[in-house]
Amino acid sequence: MRILGIESSCDETGIAIYDDEQGLLAHQLYSQVKVHADYGGVVPELASRDHVRKTIPLIEAAFKQAGCGPESLDGIAYTAGPGLVGALLVGTSIGRSLAFGWNIPAVAVHHMEGHLLAPMLEEEMPEFPFVALLVSGGHTMMVKVAGIGEYEVLGESVDDAAGEAFDKTAKLLGLDYPGGPMLAKLATKGVAGRFVFPRPMTDRPGLDFSFSGLKTAAANTIKSAGDDEQTKADIAHAFQTAVVDTLAIKCKRALKETGIKRLIIAGGVSANTELRTKLERMMQGMQGKVYYPRTEFCTDNGAMIAYAGMQRLKAGQTAELSMKTQPRWPLDSLPPL
Ligand code: KG4
Ligand code: ZN
Repeated sequence: MRILGIESSCDETGIAIYDDEQGLLAHQLYSQVKVHADYGGVVPELASRDHVRKTIPLIEAAFKQAGCGPESLDGIAYTAGPGLVGALLVGTSIGRSLAFGWNIPAVAVHHMEGHLLAPMLEEEMPEFPFVALLVSGGHTMMVKVAGIGEYEVLGESVDDAAGEAFDKTAKLLGLDYPGGPMLAKLATKGVAGRFVFPRPMTDRPGLDFSFSGLKTAAANTIKSAGDDEQTKADIAHAFQTAVVDTLAIKCKRALKETGIKRLIIAGGVSANTELRTKLERMMQGMQGKVYYPRTEFCTDNGAMIAYAGMQRLKAGQTAELSMKTQPRWPLDSLPPL
């Protein structure tokens, strides 16, 4: 079976063609970074308009790359939520309309399920059950995964998402949007130990997260310690270490509570090298293993949507004819396969 995946929930237009026997046949991505850079963050209306411009050309490019056409497809998967409603509507209406026109089923995919299943696109894929740390720009979640659609949310952020905290702190440090990767780069020049930020909510039981205090700690330090280049790098280092440590402490706790030895990390922040290294070391110590997608599939992309859509399509879980988006959509409300 073969499926076209469309991702348009935020500021990336991602298109992919996935075949359940041959694997990924095409993968096209357009990032809107330049469109939003002047504003220091995503402008929803500009995002929607850019998705309108890019989606069809990218679908054409994906067919060209895969060397096939619409007649070879068994379905179309599109991100129906969560995300920016206007942006979601673009992918939803194009995906749903093409499926109607080509007389094939459409599948409405949950964006975070896409992230969660992205490690399955790699050769060495995790077996169920596993614990998933989902760390993106919009969400931070710890999930116990018994199978596809069998999700128990063990904890989530009570305020900013991890990626959001990276982006906001980067902005305070005068870095361009999107700040997460920039802050990580600056942190490599930082000296460890000059500043130490708190590890929020690790001193009490539970698996929820809070990151807004860290951003405030960084803001206060910038005010008091100055903003010369070395100080900024030292602050970036301290901030990143605090986030990574906090995430690692919570992962360890979740693995101990569930008795599971397999951890996956996914979402934009899972591209962070320090986080990967820290969790790899931790899992070695626990005789377990950590899995993550290749870097380009950590951030938003069409491949993860095509993959998740394929699993739902094979289970006959297709979308109704109406163009329905779900900007807010709890992950644990998804049906099992
Ligand atoms: O998953 P994603 O592409 O979009 C959402 O679903 O939100 O995640 C984007 C987030 C942004 O906040 C970005 O700054 C962060 O992931 N990010 C990183 C890194 N690469 C992307 N944060 C820290 N270190 C990185 N290397
Ligand atoms: Zn995402």
